[in-house]
Amino acid sequence: MCGIVGAVAQRNIVSVLLEGLRRLEYRGYDSCGVAVLGEEGPRRARSVARVTDLDEQVRESHLDGITGIAHTRWATHGAPVTDNAHPIFSKDELALVHNGIIENYESLREMLRDKGYTFVSQTDTEVIAHLVHSLYNGDLFATVREAIGQLHGAYAIAVLHKNQPHTVVGARQGSPLVVGIGNGENFLASDALALAGSTERFIFLEEGDVCELSLDGVKISDRDGYDAQREVRQVAAYGGAVELGPYRHFMQKEIFEQPRAITDTIPQADSFDPSIFGDDAQTVFGEIDNLLILACGTSSYAALTAKYWLESIAKIPTQVEIASEYRYRESVPNPKSLVVVVSQSGETADTLAALKHAQSLGHKHTLAVCNVGTSAMVRQTELSFLTHAGREIGVASTKAFTTQLVALFVLAATLAKLRGHLSAGQEADYVKQLRHLPAALNSVLALEPQIIAWSEEFSRKEHALFLGRGLHYPIALEGALKLKEISYIQAEAYPAGELKHGPLALVTEAMPVVTVAPNDALLEKLKSNIQEVRARGGQLYVFADADTKIVNDEGLHVIRMPEHYGLLSPILHVVPLQLLAYHTACARGTDVDKPRNLAKSVTVE
Ligand code: M6R
Repeated sequence: MCGIVGAVAQRNIVSVLLEGLRRLEYRGYDSCGVAVLGEEGPRRARSVARVTDLDEQVRESHLDGITGIAHTRWATHGAPVTDNAHPIFSKDELALVHNGIIENYESLREMLRDKGYTFVSQTDTEVIAHLVHSLYNGDLFATVREAIGQLHGAYAIAVLHKNQPHTVVGARQGSPLVVGIGNGENFLASDALALAGSTERFIFLEEGDVCELSLDGVKISDRDGYDAQREVRQVAAYGGAVELGPYRHFMQKEIFEQPRAITDTIPQADSFDPSIFGDDAQTVFGEIDNLLILACGTSSYAALTAKYWLESIAKIPTQVEIASEYRYRESVPNPKSLVVVVSQSGETADTLAALKHAQSLGHKHTLAVCNVGTSAMVRQTELSFLTHAGREIGVASTKAFTTQLVALFVLAATLAKLRGHLSAGQEADYVKQLRHLPAALNSVLALEPQIIAWSEEFSRKEHALFLGRGLHYPIALEGALKLKEISYIQAEAYPAGELKHGPLALVTEAMPVVTVAPNDALLEKLKSNIQEVRARGGQLYVFADADTKIVNDEGLHVIRMPEHYGLLSPILHVVPLQLLAYHTACARGTDVDKPRNLAKSVTVE
């Protein structure tokens, strides 16, 4: 998704800007650009190819300067063509980059046209550039403050003006923006990761903040226009670029990193202690009588799995809502709810907005399950649990998902204990199972060669059905999402009992039916569903626990999983589905880590 980098220094900052863009590339983008201030005003280079192409253009045109901004764009308004790539100029005097969406851009465009501005792009961004230009009064900081008062929507912007050669101004509302503090130089970015090579000291701007970067300092005002002091945080964890090592793609590497990621995420203590969620967790957990979990995509499937755990172990009513639906729905707030947001990035616009919406309805107890400790979601919630998946580069989420499951299982067990539903023996068993999980995952990863053999077959299909029941229905949903995201095969998931209510009509010899078959209480029911498919000539591809005794037969292809792993079984069963999607996509030759049209961190609505 879109990324912003900005810098003011006493040296040529073009390499800093390009390096920042490179670090944001994994998020997905379709064009990029950079602008620096020269004596004549801003100069820029833009590309609809990759950052390496932009780099070449920069060298060829000798673009250099000490004040600049740069951008990766993921198209929302207007196609990914050069005219729509940022930085966007106004009258060759002002340059601006923007993440987010301006909802009232049409009325602003009409107003600005009436003032004589000509529009050369289809972007909503161009209205911000012309608006700031039209209001400019010699003080860019004050002008941006005034301009954003007229914007409706979500945005993070960085802007520079010819008349202020050592100034970059930024503003945020609904999209993240972070200031990097250097020595005699200062930076701006949509993600601290972009500045990892330049500084370890960051200010995470708050909603409505406007900032001005100059050579000797940073000035910030809050949403009401008052001077604001923001905490400078030391963040050293961003490190260098992540290496691919022996793997073909980051997705494959991340699938194989799951035993390590889960080991790092499992709490150290041998008991479930609420303090792992924050100092106030014990008090908060004592005040709630239900959970409302908000999330998108894969994170919402982790939440759905958790619903089964929370209701069965902790006996606490749990509702899961897709964040983008919840935020626009009239719902009945319950002050005794714990609102849980689940997110890999902690910056997903829909989930953030849903959290804000829940808070505005009076929900005071909030918890984030998140992989990024400095993210907006963690900063805006009362409690948090950080997963330790490490940086996930592949757009298709894998290790973030399984570590979210671990976090949510720990939440369920902790609430069960506090509510008197967990005996000491059960607690010890759960801790033991969690500790053994990485080893169990390694034995599932060892199934890769068998899965590769299936993927050849799958790569020639255009449709697939995924079936699961109970706790494993969300795993079927996740398996189908993985396959469609990266192989572009249309895949749908159903609770297996639902098959006869409609989807069975789709079953023919040409339709592979992937089935998640754990040896749980629903196994006999699932076996009947398998027979319903076989009777219609369907081809079943079953991941069956070793103790299910489901074996290969006509129309029935089986990969034997380890023996049933109890309540934590979904964490094992999702892994072969990740591998199936991955190898099918490889066989089809798609861009696995950067699938078409998708972005890693979805920071627009
Ligand atoms: O960062 P988040 O977990 O909030 O992201 C939510 C979804 O955008 C994300 O899970 C998406 O569905 C992934 N591409 C799934 O692989």
